[in-house]
Formats: sequence, structure tokens, C-alpha cells
Amino acid sequence: MASPPLPESCDAVLLSEERIRERVTELGAALTRDYEGQELRLVTVLRGGLIFLADLARATDVPLQLDFMAVSPYAPGRGGVVRVTKDLDDDITDAAVVLVEDVIDTGLTVNYVLSLLRARRPRSLEVCALLDKDVRRIADVPIAHRGFRIPDRFVVGYGLDLKGRYRNLPYVATLREDALEVR
Ligand code: IMP
Ligand code: MG
Repeated sequence: MASPPLPESCDAVLLSEERIRERVTELGAALTRDYEGQELRLVTVLRGGLIFLADLARATDVPLQLDFMAVSPYAPGRGGVVRVTKDLDDDITDAAVVLVEDVIDTGLTVNYVLSLLRARRPRSLEVCALLDKDVRRIADVPIAHRGFRIPDRFVVGYGLDLKGRYRNLPYVATLREDALEVR
């Protein structure tokens, strides 16, 4: 199936469907190796991580369960404190948890979510992030598995949105600078 044409507000495909598929297969193989003999809990923060999680789970060959949380974006100046708008459904005490993230930008959101999850005493807790905008990092994030390092550009597709749109693009594209008034 041909990829859909680039939306007018985007200027280029940064990561093609094929590159993403290959990398997600490798990440799944890495999780399969790391968690052999264990039961894995893949947790993601809605909604951006959903598409990546769905593909990563199918590339990972250990028994696993999925769970979801949602947070409101942090307010500037609040040190990355976010409000949990939907909590996990299941207890993670003693579970081997991998937090699956679409993109780590400043790192504030994921670090806050990690602190919430750590307080519940999982047996292990690691981060698997598809995209890493490391030049924008404010808070240090321990990323066990990373898909791609990307430059400081706003990207959409493969789960990532601009005001709720473009999540269904099968590739990751950079947004045109003039299509982005707020960040
Ligand atoms: P952080 O707390 O700055 O790391 O924020 C990460 C969150 O910001 C991600 O989970 C996304 O929701 C959003 N975000 C950061 N960069 C992008 C982007 O390039 N496209 C779409 N959403 C982004
Ligand atoms: Mg997100």
C-alpha cells in the first residue's frame, strides 16, 4: 500500500514507514531478549504512544500485558508536575514494567510519570522511547531502549499529533515552521 501524500503543513518525511517498521522490530527483539522468562507489563501514556505500543507489543515475544495512563500537559514553571487524568487499571507492584513513550523532548513529563510509577514498587522499570529529541532535554531521562535520535523539529505522525491531528500518518514527518504557531 502506498504511503498517504504529505499533508500541506508538513515539509518532509523524517522517518519512513519502512524505517520505523525495521527499528520497531529491532526494539521488540531487544525486549524479547531482555525479558526472556519474565512477564512484561507495557505501559504507555495516551494518546501519543498508542500506535508505537501496538506495533512494539506485536514485535515482542514474551508474555505481556498492556496498560494505559493519561496525563494533562504540564504547566510551564511547575517543574514538570502533570495531572493524572487516567490512571493504570492494574497494580504494578513487583511487575517488570516498560514505559513506552512516543517522544522524549524536555524529559519533564516522562520523569514525572516515572516517579509516580516507581512509588508503586515495580520489580523493574525501564523506558522505551521511539523518538529522542535530546538537544531539548532539561531533565535527565534514563532511556533503556531508543528508536531514533531526531533533531529539534516538531514532528507528527505514527501517533504524534498537532492539536489532535495527524496521528494516523504511517510515517513521521516534520511540520513546516509556519504551520506551528504554538509549541
Ligand atoms: P516533554 O515533557 O517535553 O518531554 O514532553 C513530551 C511530550 O510533548 C510528548 O509526549 C508529546 O506529547 C509532546 N511533544 C514533544 N515534542 C513533540 C513533537 O515533535 N510532536 C508532537 N508532540 C510532541
Ligand atoms: Mg506523549
